[in-house]
Amino acid sequence: MQVCTDLPCALRGAEEFMDNLCGNLGIKVGETTADGLVTLEAVMCLASCDRAPMFQTQGPDGIKYHDYMTVDRTMELIEALKETK
Ligand code: FES
Repeated sequence: MQVCTDLPCALRGAEEFMDNLCGNLGIKVGETTADGLVTLEAVMCLASCDRAPMFQTQGPDGIKYHDYMTVDRTMELIEALKETK
Protein backbone atom coordinates (compact mmCIF):
# COMPACT_ATOMS: atom_id res chain seq x y z
CA MET A 1 0.00 0.00 0.00
CA GLN A 2 1.35 3.36 -0.99
CA VAL A 3 -0.22 6.15 1.03
CA CYS A 4 0.26 9.67 -0.25
CA THR A 5 1.52 11.89 2.57
CA ASP A 6 2.52 14.80 0.35
CA LEU A 7 1.47 18.28 1.49
CA PRO A 8 -2.02 18.54 -0.09
CA CYS A 9 -2.96 15.13 1.28
CA ALA A 10 -1.38 15.96 4.63
CA LEU A 11 -3.67 18.96 4.84
CA ARG A 12 -6.58 16.54 4.40
CA GLY A 13 -5.45 14.27 7.24
CA ALA A 14 -3.05 11.86 5.51
CA GLU A 15 -0.53 11.87 8.35
CA GLU A 16 -3.13 11.05 11.01
CA PHE A 17 -4.55 8.41 8.65
CA MET A 18 -1.08 6.88 8.25
CA ASP A 19 -0.40 6.92 11.99
CA ASN A 20 -3.71 5.20 12.74
CA LEU A 21 -3.20 2.70 9.95
CA CYS A 22 0.25 1.82 11.29
CA GLY A 23 -1.29 1.30 14.71
CA ASN A 24 -4.01 -0.97 13.35
CA LEU A 25 -1.59 -3.02 11.27
CA GLY A 26 1.07 -3.15 14.01
CA ILE A 27 3.82 -1.99 11.66
CA LYS A 28 5.75 1.16 10.87
CA VAL A 29 6.03 2.86 7.49
CA GLY A 30 8.31 0.76 5.30
CA GLU A 31 7.49 -2.48 7.10
CA THR A 32 5.44 -5.52 6.07
CA THR A 33 2.80 -7.28 8.16
CA ALA A 34 3.75 -10.64 9.66
CA ASP A 35 1.49 -12.46 7.18
CA GLY A 36 3.39 -10.82 4.32
CA LEU A 37 0.22 -9.35 2.85
CA VAL A 38 0.69 -5.63 3.39
CA THR A 39 3.75 -3.44 3.00
CA LEU A 40 3.09 0.17 3.92
CA GLU A 41 4.89 2.97 2.12
CA ALA A 42 4.60 6.75 2.23
CA VAL A 43 4.79 8.28 -1.24
CA MET A 44 4.61 11.65 -2.91
CA CYS A 45 1.69 12.95 -4.97
CA LEU A 46 -0.41 10.34 -6.77
CA ALA A 47 -2.55 12.96 -8.52
CA SER A 48 -5.59 12.40 -6.32
CA CYS A 49 -4.99 15.33 -3.99
CA ASP A 50 -8.62 16.38 -3.55
CA ARG A 51 -9.69 12.87 -2.54
CA ALA A 52 -7.34 12.26 0.41
CA PRO A 53 -6.75 10.31 2.49
CA MET A 54 -5.88 8.12 -0.42
CA PHE A 55 -3.54 5.31 -1.34
CA GLN A 56 -2.85 2.89 -4.12
CA THR A 57 -2.53 -0.85 -3.89
CA GLN A 58 -0.59 -3.13 -6.15
CA GLY A 59 -1.74 -6.71 -6.48
CA PRO A 60 -2.48 -9.42 -9.00
CA ASP A 61 -5.10 -7.19 -10.67
CA GLY A 62 -2.69 -4.29 -11.11
CA ILE A 63 -2.67 -0.92 -9.42
CA LYS A 64 -5.88 0.41 -7.87
CA TYR A 65 -6.62 3.81 -6.33
CA HIS A 66 -8.57 4.09 -3.10
CA ASP A 67 -9.91 7.59 -2.41
CA TYR A 68 -11.63 9.26 0.55
CA MET A 69 -10.42 6.43 2.77
CA THR A 70 -10.86 5.94 6.48
CA VAL A 71 -8.87 3.54 8.60
CA ASP A 72 -11.99 1.43 9.18
CA ARG A 73 -12.67 1.13 5.45
CA THR A 74 -9.00 0.35 4.83
CA MET A 75 -9.01 -2.45 7.39
CA GLU A 76 -12.17 -3.85 5.75
CA LEU A 77 -10.37 -3.75 2.40
CA ILE A 78 -7.39 -5.61 3.85
CA GLU A 79 -9.66 -8.25 5.37
CA ALA A 80 -11.35 -8.69 1.97
CA LEU A 81 -7.94 -9.09 0.32
CA LYS A 82 -7.01 -11.76 2.86
CA GLU A 83 -10.12 -13.74 1.88
CA THR A 84 -9.10 -13.71 -1.78
CA LYS A 85 -5.53 -14.76 -0.96
S1 FES B 1 -0.68 15.31 -2.75
FE1 FES B 1 -1.52 13.34 -2.35
S2 FES B 1 -2.36 12.75 -4.25
FE2 FES B 1 -1.52 14.70 -4.63
